[in-house]
Amino acid sequence: MAETPRPNPQALESVLVENRLFPPPEDFSRRAHIRSMEDYRRLWDEAEKNPEAYWGARAREELYWKEPFQTVLEWKPPHARWFVEGRTNLAYNCLDRHLPALKDKTAILFEGEPGDRRKVTYGELSREVNQLANGLRALGVKKGDRVGIYLPMVPEAAVAMLACARVGAVHSVVFGGFSAEALLERMNDAGAKVLLTADGGWRKGAVVPLLDNVRKAMPQMKNLEHVVVFQRTTQGSLRLEGKEQSWSELTQKQSDVCEPEWVESEHPLFILYTSGSTGKPKGVLHTTGGYAVFASLSSRWVFDLKKEDVYWCTADIGWVTGHSYVVYGPLMNGVTSVIYEGALTHPGADRTWELIAREKISILYTAPTAIRAFMRLGDDIPRKHDMSSLRLLGSVGEPINPEAWMWYRDVIGGGRCPVVDTWWQTETGGIMLSPLPGATPTKPGSATLPLPGVHTEVLDKQGKPVGANQGGQLFITRPWPSMLRTVYGDPQRYVNTYFSELPGMYFTGDGARRDDDGYFWLMGRVDDVVNVAGHRLGTAEVESALVAHKSVAEAAVVGRPDDLKGTALVAFITLKKGVGHSPELKKELATHVGKEIGAIARPDEIRFAEGLPKTRSGKIMRRLLRDVASGKQTTGDTTTLEDLNVLAALRSDEE
Ligand code: WT7
Repeated sequence: MAETPRPNPQALESVLVENRLFPPPEDFSRRAHIRSMEDYRRLWDEAEKNPEAYWGARAREELYWKEPFQTVLEWKPPHARWFVEGRTNLAYNCLDRHLPALKDKTAILFEGEPGDRRKVTYGELSREVNQLANGLRALGVKKGDRVGIYLPMVPEAAVAMLACARVGAVHSVVFGGFSAEALLERMNDAGAKVLLTADGGWRKGAVVPLLDNVRKAMPQMKNLEHVVVFQRTTQGSLRLEGKEQSWSELTQKQSDVCEPEWVESEHPLFILYTSGSTGKPKGVLHTTGGYAVFASLSSRWVFDLKKEDVYWCTADIGWVTGHSYVVYGPLMNGVTSVIYEGALTHPGADRTWELIAREKISILYTAPTAIRAFMRLGDDIPRKHDMSSLRLLGSVGEPINPEAWMWYRDVIGGGRCPVVDTWWQTETGGIMLSPLPGATPTKPGSATLPLPGVHTEVLDKQGKPVGANQGGQLFITRPWPSMLRTVYGDPQRYVNTYFSELPGMYFTGDGARRDDDGYFWLMGRVDDVVNVAGHRLGTAEVESALVAHKSVAEAAVVGRPDDLKGTALVAFITLKKGVGHSPELKKELATHVGKEIGAIARPDEIRFAEGLPKTRSGKIMRRLLRDVASGKQTTGDTTTLEDLNVLAALRSDEE
């Protein structure tokens, strides 16, 4: 079955640029949690030989368990239960466990986009969480109830998540950049009865009108009983109506002691919606014990977290990265986690570097799209700042091109910081593939090797491992603690989406290859999911938004490579009879998609066509459209095209 990854640094001599190899700096390794490939291999082998003993030991080390577990894993493919009899509470593990020792230590170092700053200590965070948790209970929230969170990146976002965890409520965070429609769909699917939101948040100098969006969607929210509004962007008293009430009024009157709900290990912790290859976003469900163990352990190993670290993950809490590596993982490890509200280059290109220098940030975790954007702005901008506090750099969300990787390492990391390219997904709950910075020699553009206990393989359609440097599909072949447990409300979709390619093995949807050293190189999605500027989108979702417009007859959306965003969206559209093409209509359609889903889904390019190329059975030929979109010569077999003129027409519509 799974083969032990045995990279052999001596064998890595190659003239190929992609085979540049960067061993961990010696002084970094000496102090790291995992110091050598021997340490890594020992752990990997231990986990491989006896997964239950390995994970059982990790789970006991990472978490405080109110009730111990006896059963480490119950695996009835494709359903896993981890640490079965155990009871715990994640808010307790993030907060109470560190008290009183870390009472005065900064848990959250907050910087608002307008420049306001706040340090929230572990003691203060604990009090705020307990007050809101009591507030939620006062509103009738009980264990297992779903609570929506639609907030900007302010400390209250973490408070909201932790308060839910404290009372055993299941949070469903909706990214603040999503529209009223997208919020509505997610709130109703989750059946959320309370929504925690804000009047607005700051982004690029403007207010994101969160409360306006909530109000638009509210009349159609089926299970909604209360909306709790945090005041962020307005002055004076907020005029609230109907189901709305003020966050500060609700929490002020609550006690700051709140007995945690000791939940079963498999008690649901959160739902997070993510795009799949079909229209509706999937509610990925994560449970408590396994998720927490893995978030805690992977944070410490991959980011080599030490008590003195000031750690900044730039992800929004609306994405899984914000869940595992802004809130839960860092707080379980007792470090200082930076929360920054706005755009990384607002009000100027210096913002990010100025913040790093001022706060002496030691670890930066961001996305390739941001790195490429910084790179374009020029080296002299980061070079003006003292970034000697940085000791480790991380990347996540999409493949990072070697050029951006090298720039990140040299210009931001001064050539001394290890770079960890971390591959994972909403569904995996935590990092699956990544260098361990004190141990793994890195190669620009490779996510290197699986964490100990994680079994990833590149397989062909029959389930056979492909040879070195052969492309195949990436699978996770054994269960892991932080794996998703189901698709909320649609258990069959869980089986169909993830466990139908090869029985019992988790299908990631990504293409990959392994090189001669066993290192993994991610090659992008193999399904109809695209990664636009690190945001995951289903092309079908964008298509259904487009066809909802009165002028559109048919729409096909594909990705094309883009220097900055990784992938850009191109929409091919046929219009209804009598509707004429116009640049204004293109603009209107882009705005329409923004309104239906959110600005991140707006197509970068819209092309009108007389018809879409289809196979005889009526399937849109996406491969062909992808080639057309990227300006590539079509090499595939197009003889099944219903009408070759359609293709010709698409090609000539190059404006
Ligand atoms: C998809 C998952 C995991 C947190 C953010 C995204 C792509 C993610 C990498 C990487 C190459 C990557 C994959 C994956 N992806 N990280 N380091 N190298 N590709 O979570 O929204 O669930 O998206 O992002 O295609 O399947 P997500």
